[in-house]
Amino acid sequence: MMQRFTNPRDIYHGKGALEALKGFEGKKAVICVGGGSMKRFGFLDRAKGYLEEAGMEVRIIEGIESDPSVETVMKGAAVMQEFGPDWIVAIGGGSPIDAAKAMWIKYEYPETTFEDMCKIFGLPKLRTKAKFCAVSSTSGTATEVTAFSIITDYQKGIKYPIADFEITPDVAIVDPELAETMPKKLVAHTGMDALTHAIEAYVSTVHSEFTDAPAIRAIEMIQRDLVNSYGEDMTARDNMHTAQCLAGIAFSSGLLGIVHSMAHKTGAVFADQGAHIIHGAANAMYLPKVIAYNAKDPEAKKRYGVIADYMHLAGSTDDEKVAALIAYVRGLNDQLNIPHGIKFYGADSYPTEQGFVPEKVFLERLPSIAANAILDACTGSNPRQPTQEEMEKLLKCCYYDTDVDF
Ligand SMILES: NC(=O)c1ccc[n+]([C@@H]2O[C@H](COP(=O)([O-])OP(=O)(O)OC[C@H]3O[C@@H](n4cnc5c(N)ncnc54)[C@H](O)[C@@H]3O)[C@@H](O)[C@H]2O)c1
Ligand SMILES: [Zn+2]
Repeated sequence: MMQRFTNPRDIYHGKGALEALKGFEGKKAVICVGGGSMKRFGFLDRAKGYLEEAGMEVRIIEGIESDPSVETVMKGAAVMQEFGPDWIVAIGGGSPIDAAKAMWIKYEYPETTFEDMCKIFGLPKLRTKAKFCAVSSTSGTATEVTAFSIITDYQKGIKYPIADFEITPDVAIVDPELAETMPKKLVAHTGMDALTHAIEAYVSTVHSEFTDAPAIRAIEMIQRDLVNSYGEDMTARDNMHTAQCLAGIAFSSGLLGIVHSMAHKTGAVFADQGAHIIHGAANAMYLPKVIAYNAKDPEAKKRYGVIADYMHLAGSTDDEKVAALIAYVRGLNDQLNIPHGIKFYGADSYPTEQGFVPEKVFLERLPSIAANAILDACTGSNPRQPTQEEMEKLLKCCYYDTDVDF
């Protein structure tokens, strides 16, 4: 079967890679940024300066919120339509970069609705007006190299993935200096997001040799560097920026699985209870449960075994290796101060006796969350296709932190 492996035309990496902006050609550039961290640490000014050195007029779209909304996308696209950039440069974490990708679609095709955008691999040709550069400042989503953008519909409380190789950026800048300013909690969450990307891509039903290689290398590096990066070791922090990008290269073409389906459908659905379940933390809690569930598929079990071997975990049979991998991920969560279940997830994301999602609310919403998770774009490439009943059981295990035995 024909498959496709698609990446940005250029990936500039290493310290100082931000300077690559100086070499861009064009008349007008818009820079999309988030809530202020990039401004505070001087990266926004530097980026603007480099683009001006390249002879471009620069406009800034600021204040893109975490887990960006459809409204933010439409507002930003209107600014682009008015300004007419030939470069869109998005700087920050997954949120501003994802929002900028969706703005780009709307800028190129003003008639497009959000519903149109969400048709999987159904986008029209982009780059008729602008090219796209992504500069990542967190070490997790790897959206700088991926064909995805995650936008939240707050009316429905659902995160929708936009998926199409058209939105794979033209240029990715992976400059570890930008990641050095991350607070510890962000290191933990985004790092577990990256590990989940690599593991889900490795067992995905559409994985290939092209995606296996970066996935395995990412897993090895994350095992070596994530806890040290959390402990403020800056060499490890720099390595994590590369590792998460490799994981992105793996999952952009190799796709993901139901850890992400469940994270997308639980992230914003309890926002009315006072908080989000942060994407990376959701993945970290659900990953061990999904490994246990998927390992009932013989092919997936074997592949988890291969991962455990590359990580030099204990075990001689595949069952033992799967158990060791699950134990390893749970141990990581402990070291990174991430709880093991939604019930124990505090509004501040730290483990607590009683988290911000009450049991009653969870159980009321469970059937619809499960139905939505099954419909998520990430479910199709998971090794097992869960029924409604199985998905509800799985989500319950993720809430109470109980063992998966089905
Ligand atoms: N497109 C994809 O392929 C993909 C994959 C996984 C997740 N996502 C999505 O990405 C979003 C999460 O992105 P994220 O985890 O990168 O976080 P984020 O972009 O939401 O940023 C979180 C916070 O960290 C701050 N921040 C960012 N970089 C910083 C730095 N270097 N120093 C200090 N503070 C910094 C931001 O200002 C923000 O307050 C979610 O919406 C998730 O669903 C997308
Ligand atoms: Zn993710």
